[in-house]
Amino acid sequence: MIVKKPPMGWNSWNTFGHDINEELIREIADVMVRDGYLDAGYEYLVVDDCWQEHERDENGRLVADRKKFPSGMKALADYVHSKGLKFGIYSCAGTLTCEGFPGSFEHEFIDAQTFAEWGVDFLKYDRCYKPLTFDVVTLFRRMGMALANCGRDILFAACSWGADETRKWIKSTGAHMWRATNDIGDSHASIRQLAEKFDRDLKYSSPGSFADLDMLVVGMYGEGNVAFGGCTTAMYKTHFTYWAQLNSPLMIGADIRKIPKEARDILLNREVIAINQDEGCWQPYEIGIPDGWNPKGNPVYVKLLSNGEIAMGIYNFYDEEANLATCLDRMGLCMSTGKTLEIRDVWTGETQYVTNAVLKTKIPPHDCKLYRCKIVDLVYGKMS
Ligand code: GLA
Repeated sequence: MIVKKPPMGWNSWNTFGHDINEELIREIADVMVRDGYLDAGYEYLVVDDCWQEHERDENGRLVADRKKFPSGMKALADYVHSKGLKFGIYSCAGTLTCEGFPGSFEHEFIDAQTFAEWGVDFLKYDRCYKPLTFDVVTLFRRMGMALANCGRDILFAACSWGADETRKWIKSTGAHMWRATNDIGDSHASIRQLAEKFDRDLKYSSPGSFADLDMLVVGMYGEGNVAFGGCTTAMYKTHFTYWAQLNSPLMIGADIRKIPKEARDILLNREVIAINQDEGCWQPYEIGIPDGWNPKGNPVYVKLLSNGEIAMGIYNFYDEEANLATCLDRMGLCMSTGKTLEIRDVWTGETQYVTNAVLKTKIPPHDCKLYRCKIVDLVYGKMS
């Protein structure tokens, strides 16, 4: 199985934690279709930790919690598939999952086979309770082999939190996406912390094996399992834009059955999603080097798109307004090239030209800009 674009979907953990059951998952499947999430590209519906019984059955197979999922996982997968969605599940490389349910350690092949028989399309694979005598690389490789031989296409979503320099070995395991970060919380501090660390991992992200900044908290507004105070809509917009521009998988974590419209509009912004899903998946690079025009070093990322256009994101994670000038020389577009940029703000729809190779922007606290840019001839007299 080859995964060419950052995977998109919904995951139960951020809002629901332990509090999951088959009715909830069916309702989420219905809403994913009804409210346009599937149409926008969110295709995987993933049940995270806490779906299992505490004991395997007499054949050593994992069993779904009989109270929460009385119809079983195969029936649930069938329902999810009937909606045109794909079904995901969670397990762990250790003896136990992070919440203390049976892990897949020394059961990798039988678990992969069980998941295939249930119709699973996506496995999130965690690293809690790893026995000290085994190295983590071998354990992730073993599940990678088991999945690649289970007779079904199952996306392998490794979740080793960036630990043990995950970026350096994860591509040997067959993982199609891999967590580069520790767990997200629904707060601006958490978003900013994950974002700031990610540059280190970005160069290891590529089609086939995408670095994952963790699931989205957009729209949680301080409610649910990982709620740590919540965020404003501007913070969610910045969070989503950053994840999207930097080629991260986009896994929604909010309760989409009752998400406010402004958050839903963020998650469904087609122009932002198109930048995330651009088939080139070229590596974004940072040009916001601190200087007199950008004294705090607000991150400015540039990403070449497959049709020759460019996505430029300017991010203000700080608590004060940013008054910035971004110099196109830093991406090689000096005036001597005879070229400049025509830029479209994908959040407001406004279009302008960059003059004198300098883009001036005022960005409110915690907000951002994302421009889709065309390279055009420099015509003197055109003003921004
Ligand atoms: C770890 C992962 C989370 C979530 C929980 C479930 O903390 O990083 O994303 O899957 O386990 O227990």
